[in-house]
Amino acid sequence: MNQDGPQVQNIILIGFMGCGKSTVGRELKRMLGFSWIDTDSVIEQQAQCSITDIFAREGEEGFRDRETDVLRDLAAQQLRSTIISTGGGAILREENRALLRQLGYVVWLRANAETVYQRTRKNRDRPILQTQNPRAVIADLLQQREPMYRECSHLAIEVSGLNRTEIAVGIIESARYHFASQE
Ligand code: S3P
Repeated sequence: MNQDGPQVQNIILIGFMGCGKSTVGRELKRMLGFSWIDTDSVIEQQAQCSITDIFAREGEEGFRDRETDVLRDLAAQQLRSTIISTGGGAILREENRALLRQLGYVVWLRANAETVYQRTRKNRDRPILQTQNPRAVIADLLQQREPMYRECSHLAIEVSGLNRTEIAVGIIESARYHFASQE
């Protein structure tokens, strides 16, 4: 990818929990040699505790405020050639959606409710899914959030049936067209 263009050439990964935003982010870093930032990890480093603990101490609203702060900081940094993996709820606030578009080419990794359930069911690190009926919560939240992922993204990729490399190759090809059309 031409790294000398006038545009930022960052790739931003959004999508529901369990869709592979971190895995694909690492793969894009490997293939492109870009930097990679995971906003959940930045939040945990800044808070010096896990996301589960942040939810317990500050509630979801406290976590969302931290998430917005991280996106504002990233947008202020004039990043170039960077992959950013976000948390599944990063699109919930209108301000965040605008910041994500400002940061670069926004790719929505999509999966259906059953795939998300199967990929997340053994994991205890996602406070929102620690409920009696995670299947119902996933279906409900997916329905609420889909319009926001759609509104915020330049590209949507259905991830079911594709491996990390196939997804990354598709993203790189589309991003090339996007950045070239901006030149
Ligand atoms: C959340 C998704 C999580 C994390 C937090 C809240 C959400 O990130 O930000 O637990 O509201 O969907 P992942 O999508 O990386 O699991």
